[in-house]
Formats: sequence, structure tokens, C-alpha cells
Amino acid sequence: MGLPWRIAIDGPAASGKSTLGQRLAAPPGYLYVDTGVMYRAVTWAALRRGVPIADEAALTGLAETLDLDIAPPTVQDGRLYTVRVDGEDVTWDLRRPEVDAAVSQVSAYPGVRRALTRRQRQIGLRGRVVMVGRDIGTVVLPEADLKIYLDARLETRAWRRYQELQARGADVPFEAVLETMRQRDALDQGREVAPLRPAPDAVVLDTTALDIEGVFQKVLDLIAARCRETSHVAG
Ligand code: CDP
Repeated sequence: MGLPWRIAIDGPAASGKSTLGQRLAAPPGYLYVDTGVMYRAVTWAALRRGVPIADEAALTGLAETLDLDIAPPTVQDGRLYTVRVDGEDVTWDLRRPEVDAAVSQVSAYPGVRRALTRRQRQIGLRGRVVMVGRDIGTVVLPEADLKIYLDARLETRAWRRYQELQARGADVPFEAVLETMRQRDALDQGREVAPLRPAPDAVVLDTTALDIEGVFQKVLDLIAARCRETSHVAG
């Protein structure tokens, strides 16, 4: 069964996008790209440099010029890639609560989106890719061969994120995780430019009651069904 060349996966926080994305991108020749990392890196750099998050022009400038490098993992600590900003390894810093709290304000700025979308499209058009984010199917790669939109109940997603944080030793109360996620969802869905929503031709999957394997199987079934349809039409 041939995997589609370009796969777009969108959805809210902790809906299962990155786990699904990595598994789909496992065959040799596929590139896995997590676009959220770029918004997080711009946010982290602003916090580090003391740039006010409300300063849209400064944030746009940062997104346009940031020295950002996303490379294969350099340390075996559970990371999927190593992210460097100005040469500094910030892979885990990007997941800090203060980045979570500010990133959706930053990602709503049209100039920030323009700059990062351009970088993402350049990468996405290079070849076989699985790209995950909020606007991949709608804006970044509207020509994707397969678009999946993952969703799940807010409480379920917050619980997944809480457990991830606990596993990394971050001591954040569940209520705080839930509240940050609620606010981030509202900002991501409500912004004017590239809001979080399924593309009209996306397949929407609710992962509330599914584990990782269950989601992966459903998507494989979907791809297999599409292959049969295409060969039926062709034959
Ligand atoms: O990992 P998680 O789902 O919590 O978030 P993420 O994918 O790392 O994205 C962090 C934030 O970046 C999101 O809440 C969005 O505000 C923004 N984002 C976006 O606007 N567009 C994308 N394509 C990816 C992320």
C-alpha cells in the first residue's frame, strides 16, 4: 500500500497529531515536520530577549529573522528532534508553561504567520512529508494528498498533556493545564488569519476514546480504502 506523498495533520493541542505524524513518517524518505515548534521558538526567543509579547512588530521581525534550526535528535532523552535557536539547544524549553501561555497570542499575528508559513511551505514542497499543525490542510499545504483533522474532548486532551508533563518532572497542576489549553483553543480557533479548523476535504477523527494504536489503524484503513477506490476508478 503506497502512502500519500504529502500528509497534513491538523487539530488542537494533545489531540494526538505528533504521535500519529511520526508513525506515518516512519518509512524511509519521509520527513516529519512539527510546525508548532516554529511558533514556540519565536515565542521562546521573545521571552528570553525580553521582547513584550504584545509588540506585534517586534514579534514579526523575530519570526522573519530568527536563527532557527530543527535537526535530528542529538541527545537520546525522548526527544524527536533537536531545536536550536541562535545555536542554543532549546528543545525542552519550548514546552515550558510560559511558552504555552504566550504562543497562541504570538501565532495570531499575521506577520508572524506569513514568515513561518513561508518557511513551512518551502520544506513541505521538497518531497514526501508529514506535516502537523493547525493550518496545514487549509493554508500551508492545501495541495496535500491526505488531510487528517484530529480532535478530542478538552478534558481528555488536558489529561494527556498533564501526564506528559508529569513524566518529564514538570509540576504543573491539572487545572492549570486545562485552563491554558482552553484559552489556547479559543485563541487558535478565533483568530482571523488561518484559524484552527478542518479543511473542507479533511477526514475528521475523534480520538477521545482511541489510543495511539487505534488512531494509527484507522488512518491506515483510510489510506487502504482510498487506494482501492483509486485503483477501481483507474481499472
Ligand atoms: O503540541 P501542542 O499541540 O500543544 O502545540 P503545538 O502544535 O506545539 O503548537 C503551539 C501553538 O502554535 C498552537 O497553540 C498555535 O497557537 C500555534 N500553531 C499555529 O498557529 N499554527 C501551526 N501550524 C502550528 C502551531
